[in-house]
Amino acid sequence: MVDTSDEWITERTGIKERRIADSSISTSDIALEASKKAIKDAGIKASEISMIIVGTITGDMPMPATACLLQKKLGIKDIPAFDINAACSGFLYGISIADGFIKSKSCKYILVVGAEMLSRFTDWKDRTTCVIFGDGAGAALLTGHNGKDGILSTHIHADGNFSDLIKIPAGGSQKPTSELTVRERMHFIKMKGNETFKIAVKTLGSLVEDTLKHNGITAQQLSLLIPHQANKRIISAVAERLGISEDKIMMNIEKYGNTSAASVPIALDEAVRSGRIKPKDYILLEAFGAGLTWASALIRW
Ligand code: UT7
Repeated sequence: MVDTSDEWITERTGIKERRIADSSISTSDIALEASKKAIKDAGIKASEISMIIVGTITGDMPMPATACLLQKKLGIKDIPAFDINAACSGFLYGISIADGFIKSKSCKYILVVGAEMLSRFTDWKDRTTCVIFGDGAGAALLTGHNGKDGILSTHIHADGNFSDLIKIPAGGSQKPTSELTVRERMHFIKMKGNETFKIAVKTLGSLVEDTLKHNGITAQQLSLLIPHQANKRIISAVAERLGISEDKIMMNIEKYGNTSAASVPIALDEAVRSGRIKPKDYILLEAFGAGLTWASALIRW
């Protein structure tokens, strides 16, 4: 399709495979599959959920929110449901908001989902982006308890001065869909990858350091770092800066590519299911994406 090679993709990104959804399904469908697993593992009924938050930039349609479509598919009535447009940081923005509602005791169970169908917004003629993105969904159910463990802190950030680095230029109020925007392929993701890369390494390094400092723990006390899976080299550079060994990093980009808001919950789920997380472990989740946005959460499991 484009002038590239397996060698270039592997060396520059770490990606070997990706998942591309069948054209008959949409983002809320894969969000539903992930949500059903989270609800089952939590041992609750869907009707007990008091809020749904979906991090996505590739929802079923511009409106209504994919969270509302998911709510309908889960058969739940009259609870708040909304989407977060924070790109790759969307799941962690959702976790941060949910944490506030849980800790203020306004909600008992909150479903937080990261779900993307980036393949629908990928320009398969643009080699700088089409080798990177994949489809996927992950979900978590949050609830409160009386102990000290759980989510210790969340940190969410944005800097709109860098909004030009990753964007879908058309289809919004600035450039509504027209024959011209379609012809010029402006409904696809555009990314200045190399510039984004450099800012990501610097910003994520400081983010992780600040998150650890805020909680008075060292990088050595971390059991697992679960980063957004954008690029293997970004993940390794951040880990090297912090002195975190490779065995303490959750990496699955080789299987899924960059799934934006879905990458952190998918990696978290795989870490839990493969037994890499044990009670009392310190787990740090972090993400960086379009906006620019960046976010982290420190959890004592
Ligand atoms: O998800 C949240 C935010 N996103 C990110 O954090 C993504 C961050 N960026 C990246 O992951 C990397 O910048 C990319 C993987 C997108 C690109 O890697 P890079 O090492 O920054 O490459 P580059 O853009 O500096 O391009 C290097 C060369 C260029 O050729 P010349 O000018 O040196 O001749 C590109 O034209 O690689 C070329 N190139 C490709 N070659 C083969 C760009 N894409 C491809 C490709 N296949 N697919």
